[in-house]
Amino acid sequence: MQTALITGVNGFAGRHLARLLKCKNYKVYGTTRSPGFFMPVNMINGLVVTQLDNKDSWIRILNEVKPDVVFHLASQSNVKIAWEQPSLAFLSNTMTALYLFEAVKQVSKNIRIISVGSSEEYGFYKEMEFPIKEESFPHPSNPYGVSKHSVALLARQFYEAFDMDIIHVRPFNHIGPGQRRGFVVPDFAYQVAKIEKGIQKPIISVGNLSSKRDFTDVRDIVEGYELISRRGLKGQTYNICSGKPVVISDLLEILISLSSSQIQIEEDPGKLRPIDIPIYYGSNEKIIEHTSWARSIELTQSLEDVLEEIRKEEWLENL
Ligand code: GDD
Repeated sequence: MQTALITGVNGFAGRHLARLLKCKNYKVYGTTRSPGFFMPVNMINGLVVTQLDNKDSWIRILNEVKPDVVFHLASQSNVKIAWEQPSLAFLSNTMTALYLFEAVKQVSKNIRIISVGSSEEYGFYKEMEFPIKEESFPHPSNPYGVSKHSVALLARQFYEAFDMDIIHVRPFNHIGPGQRRGFVVPDFAYQVAKIEKGIQKPIISVGNLSSKRDFTDVRDIVEGYELISRRGLKGQTYNICSGKPVVISDLLEILISLSSSQIQIEEDPGKLRPIDIPIYYGSNEKIIEHTSWARSIELTQSLEDVLEEIRKEEWLENL
């Protein structure tokens, strides 16, 4: 039986990954910054509350849990917040990963690390070629992307210099049940649900609708993490994506079409960003070739599931 440690197990992807690993008979341990709002205790064998902000706590956890594989998901993953607090993005994303690499080097180099980066590492420049491949030139366009690309560089360095078993993954936008507000799909879906309940005027407030992104359901993304942890090659980087660009306005149209309410759209300048990457979509050839990963959930299904989950939320019922 494999033992896995998931950092950020209380997060959006963390909870889905814990469920998947449990189904696949892993012994699952998780870390969380605060035990607060959701604790999947029945899904995991142990939960450690920790900030992961120094090497010693990492060493303690690794010695206690003795994982075969660490899925390092814990991070500050909101691009807009990273614009507002870039130093926080660096502390949460770059420093935490660096402490992990240092600690694993000291405890046991047999531990496989799945280092979770982001498609934001590629950023955007005029001559960019699509779909984006793993070897594309990285030009991150925001502090979040820089913080994650720094992790990628450190991962490569620890692999090359110390032969550590690190794989860096670059998931593109993930969506699905359990995602918190602050990301485009829940931001829109909560408003649709509130309009349906009559607690918001029938106007959805939006940011930039012209950008194009590559969306994959979180349940397919975590399937990718697990496959990569077994079949991926040490020292490699893998995109996880659908390979198809979707205009944000189309996403909104689909969500609105899932509701019987009449809904208007209004741009809120406060939701725009200093730089918003106009388009990105990736190539998933490598992950498919190396691991036989396949997407199983289509975009409309993900949006239906998100909306359905939000409609059932208690706070909406009680308002
Ligand atoms: N969040 C949000 N809210 N975005 C909006 C809104 C809104 O009301 N209206 C329009 N958008 C636009 C954003 O300007 C952006 O162009 C696009 O929708 C997607 O925004 P997000 O969902 O916030 O995602 P992101 O692309 O900035 O970053 C996400 O994907 C990365 C992977 O590609 C995050 O999940 C990152 O953590 C992740 O690494």
